[in-house]
Amino acid sequence: MFISSHVKWVGISEEDFTSNSLSVTRKPVQFNSYLIQGKKNYLIDTVPEAYAEKFIENLKSMIDITSLSGLIVLHGEMDHSGAILRLLEEVPHLEIYCTEEGKDSLTGHFHSNFNLNLVKTDEMLEIDEQIKLTFIEMKMLHWPDNMSAYLSPDNILFSSDAFGQYHSKSLIEANESTLLDSARLYYANVFTPFSKMMESYLNHLTYGNYQIDCIAPAHGSIWRNPDIILNAYLKWCHHETTLKIPIFYDSKWAGTKKLAQTIGEGLAKVCNDYEIMIFNIREHPIEDLMYYIAISPGFLIGTPTIHNSYSDQVAAFLWRLKGLRFPSKKIGVFGCHGWTGEGTLQLKLDLSQIGMSVMKETLNVNWQPDSEALKQALQFTQRYWDFLNL
Ligand code: FEO
Repeated sequence: MFISSHVKWVGISEEDFTSNSLSVTRKPVQFNSYLIQGKKNYLIDTVPEAYAEKFIENLKSMIDITSLSGLIVLHGEMDHSGAILRLLEEVPHLEIYCTEEGKDSLTGHFHSNFNLNLVKTDEMLEIDEQIKLTFIEMKMLHWPDNMSAYLSPDNILFSSDAFGQYHSKSLIEANESTLLDSARLYYANVFTPFSKMMESYLNHLTYGNYQIDCIAPAHGSIWRNPDIILNAYLKWCHHETTLKIPIFYDSKWAGTKKLAQTIGEGLAKVCNDYEIMIFNIREHPIEDLMYYIAISPGFLIGTPTIHNSYSDQVAAFLWRLKGLRFPSKKIGVFGCHGWTGEGTLQLKLDLSQIGMSVMKETLNVNWQPDSEALKQALQFTQRYWDFLNL
């Protein structure tokens, strides 16, 4: 695939494989590697190890692989670096460019003696007299070793994980709003805890006066109109939310599910401008649930009581929520229980302990909700709405 007069895409799209059993995610992904061709040839990143053979075969069909002068490793995580050892079988003395932390990452992953050149922000690699690659470190975006690289005169930012997504060709051909949703899901699950660093990185790009005509991340879509994703990232690193309120629940015998549905109906009546969405947390990937949390000012969560606490599924939800360190969200807790009802109270306590703003009142219903309990659920909904708007 043509990227610019000096750059070709040499990655792997998992949709080209009949089986996706090799995939590192649940869905097929396009993993991007780029070939820079000047008087010398350089590669930026590789692909997961599972696709190393095809990657090498493709490269050989495009160039004399022994003509490669160097490999730029923007990030050592193995979706980017997995084919390195196979590449070195073909080009044993290949020079590798990475950050100081990249050295730890590569040697830790592969336990091999690499021919390493350690680089820092603003250091430059001359591909030839005209073509230059400038390195920009991106510590903790999202690992210590990440960096990006800016190619002039092509004005391409090779951005590693930043601005990336986990999707493949068919979605890449989709419309802009679908692409942005996919990028937002990736941001929510990868960069949320590092949003301050992301803001600094975006500032560095702005004040560094980089003219960026194309952003080429390590997986997913290549952004030919980079302002779209740059402007979106500026909002996301400030945790911009939208008019959506998700209601999450787990339910043992459908009692908590009935409460979720009633709360959903009640909320839809009081908050006209908001979209209310109800999720059985067992039926959705945790990454999708975190995406909805990222884009919402608050949410409600329902749990049954099991062994004097909330359910295992809610515990997994809470664990991921804690790890992503979202800014405080306004949360309402509800649940249905049989002979004891500690689940909602424990959940309220644990949500507060990870910095969430939890409504003092919880909705606890003993046994299956009857008409009186459903009436209480509607009243609880009104009080949650008031709490959200405080
Ligand atoms: Fe941090 Fe694309 O891996």
